[in-house]
Amino acid sequence: MFACLMSTLPSWPLLFVALLVGVIQCFQSKAAELDHDKFAVKRTSMVKTQIEARGVSDQRVLRAMLATPRHEFVPDELKSKAYEDSPLPIGHGQTISQPYIVALMTEALRPREHERVLEIGTGSGYQAAVLSPLVKEVFTMEIVEPLAQRAAATLARLGYLNVLVRAGDGWLGWPEKAPFDAIIVTCAPDKVPPALKEQLKDGGRMVIPVGKEGEVQQLILLEKNGASLNQRALLPVRFVPMTGARPE
Ligand SMILES: C[S@@+](CC[C@H](N)C(=O)[O-])C[C@H]1O[C@@H](n2cnc3c(N)ncnc32)[C@H](O)[C@@H]1O
Repeated sequence: MFACLMSTLPSWPLLFVALLVGVIQCFQSKAAELDHDKFAVKRTSMVKTQIEARGVSDQRVLRAMLATPRHEFVPDELKSKAYEDSPLPIGHGQTISQPYIVALMTEALRPREHERVLEIGTGSGYQAAVLSPLVKEVFTMEIVEPLAQRAAATLARLGYLNVLVRAGDGWLGWPEKAPFDAIIVTCAPDKVPPALKEQLKDGGRMVIPVGKEGEVQQLILLEKNGASLNQRALLPVRFVPMTGARPE
């Protein structure tokens, strides 16, 4: 009977391998948990010391910054720097913006739950991810096609289902999806693109850095009021230029 029982059990080497695999998996999931905790601690500190301390106070924006895993939007070798107070390179000569600037621009945009927002300059997809829980839909355009593809893949992997990425020139906006309640631009043209003015709803807001390449740019808040656009300078900034062909 004993012999019969032994033949139904897996052999010892097999049992040993199964045990080993189980132990490795357990260590791997523990390591992932610790990583997750480590990044969450850094993120909490980022929000307190870099963002709240500089005057961003909208609780919805602060919660979105706390919830968005910036380390998932930077290259692997820069993950340890993801919560530092600076922009970081993302390839193709482009950057993910400084967390404080992302928070400040998001607050200035005054996003509301039922709204549709257009972003020009997807880059890594991080700004779009921050906006995602604050509005109904985010439409985001990126002129560098591989960046658009990578951002779309990252956003899909992380479950940001209300963000639509399109590769194309944001100078022209996204007429098929217009009008928008708000528009946020994260690259600097030398003047406000006329198409973006047109694609903004009456009562809508636009946050945009404007200025010539190499010079100090101004971050501007525009509010559309019928035929007029009220304009307020927020602060001097330095963004990568808006590229693309311009009609004369
Ligand atoms: C500072 S990065 C944007 C950071 C991004 N919002 C993020 O969260 O990672 C500016 C981006 O604007 C893009 N860009 C420049 N000119 C553009 C244009 N005409 N249309 C769309 N995107 C443009 C650049 O390729 C770059 O990825």
